[in-house]
Amino acid sequence: MKILIEKDYDLASAQAASLIAEEIRKNPSFVAALPTGGTPLGTYRELTRQHQEEGLSFKGVTAFNIDEYEGMSPDDPNGYYYFLHDNLYRHVDIAPENTHVEDVRAADIQEACLRYEEAIRQAGGLDMAFLGIGNDGHIGFNEPGEGIQSITHLTDLTEETIQANARFFSSIDEVPRRAVTVGLGTIMKAKKLILLATGENKAEIMAALLGSSAITTRLPASVLWLHSDVTVIMDEAAASLIKKPAAPAYMAAAGV
Ligand code: PGA
Repeated sequence: MKILIEKDYDLASAQAASLIAEEIRKNPSFVAALPTGGTPLGTYRELTRQHQEEGLSFKGVTAFNIDEYEGMSPDDPNGYYYFLHDNLYRHVDIAPENTHVEDVRAADIQEACLRYEEAIRQAGGLDMAFLGIGNDGHIGFNEPGEGIQSITHLTDLTEETIQANARFFSSIDEVPRRAVTVGLGTIMKAKKLILLATGENKAEIMAALLGSSAITTRLPASVLWLHSDVTVIMDEAAASLIKKPAAPAYMAAAGV
């Protein structure tokens, strides 16, 4: 696990964007799973800037939403497809047919989840999953619990997630209670993983994640310890509670 700590949100976002842009330049038919939320906004702004000012092209890029609320229409401003369209796709030259989202309105959701896995496979598999992290340790909407769902699936959101996401809705009652998310196995099959965590409110969960290399379904992001190509990018606020000595892998990555 490679760990990068940047001074602030903008620098952490620029770092994430430059790692993504580097992959796109190396591989114009790059396939990525992309997150939503407050964290990746700066990264998408910087990727947009690189497209507009530095010729970074998304023409051959294929993107998959990491998650989407159950029943959400792609043109609903509260939805995650809309979010990616609004904050990234419409500003760059990505082909609309290469932007995928889970079919969260399908009559048979389980079958739709399998189709999503197949679409990822048909695209050649994920070159990268770009991830945020929830205060409860989720990646995608893989919430803490007794077990790990490997593939794309419908999931109940935890109370903590519903509360955290209420800020995007006019009231907490409007936050959907369920979502479809790619599974932890889907994420782990990506060749490269980038986890971006910013702000003080992520300090506790990042200290828990990086303070021990133990894998537990109580902290879904801990599966990242099993992947051979993970870069964790934080700003100083998100890294502020990480104590040393930490897990051996962290110490090695941090050069301790
Ligand atoms: P946030 O969400 O970026 O809005 O904090 C992160 C997440 O829940 O994955």
